[in-house]
Amino acid sequence: MRLGIISALLEEQAGLVEAMRGAARVTHGMREYVAGQLWEIDAVCVLSRIGKVAAAMTATTLVEKFGVTHILFTGVAGAGDKTVNVGDIVIAESLVQHDMDASPLFPRFEVPLTGRTHFPPDQPLSMRLSQAAHDFLELDFLDAISEGERQTFRLAQPRVHRGLVASGDQFLNDVDRLDALNGALPGLVAVEMEGAAVAQVCHELGVPCAVIRAISDNANEHAATDFMRFVKSVAAQYAFHITRRLCRDLGQAPLQPRSDSAGT
Ligand code: ADE
Repeated sequence: MRLGIISALLEEQAGLVEAMRGAARVTHGMREYVAGQLWEIDAVCVLSRIGKVAAAMTATTLVEKFGVTHILFTGVAGAGDKTVNVGDIVIAESLVQHDMDASPLFPRFEVPLTGRTHFPPDQPLSMRLSQAAHDFLELDFLDAISEGERQTFRLAQPRVHRGLVASGDQFLNDVDRLDALNGALPGLVAVEMEGAAVAQVCHELGVPCAVIRAISDNANEHAATDFMRFVKSVAAQYAFHITRRLCRDLGQAPLQPRSDSAGT
């Protein structure tokens, strides 16, 4: 396997490139792709920058030019529901583009001419990711996140959620807008700006993907400040430790090849 690892910002992926052995850097389409050995597996790390087009371009390039066989998106998100707290981890069970609306020609949220509103990530990869996230919280968390940071962000007992992740080209910082989205999208757990674009690309190309997000804010009027603080101090620790656990696990027990023939 060759795993493509995408984050929007450096702060969401800091440390991974430094942990790579035999890192080779290639610039293409205004992004730097770093290929090498990450713990037990072959990997390519890249920063997509923010938004759905940037993420789609990056995912496509990872597959078409760098030959990745799987994609992991790791980063932060706003909470999509009141049961989800800052510091919790969300693993996408399904992804939707919340700003897609070609109604009345097509139902709201449907990506026209695909017949789909929701795009599924790969189940086996997401299960491995979920295990890595649980292990991070149980085994690494107290060492990885200082007591000061735990107090600042009130990270008493972070949890792992699986559910619907909604992506759009908007930073959400308005409770009314979030409530409306939550009402329109049952099972919503997180809002962000890239995941569903990657999921669509991976669906169309037949490449398994998974999306993980640490919750940085509540998508309310404090979201911008909360996001900046979280990204600056703790986001990289989450990404680094979870990715390390995932890579080691995938190296020791490789995923079985998929039996379906999507994206041929
Ligand atoms: N990523 C992190 N927080 C977010 C928010 N509130 N809206 C969109 N993307 C985000």
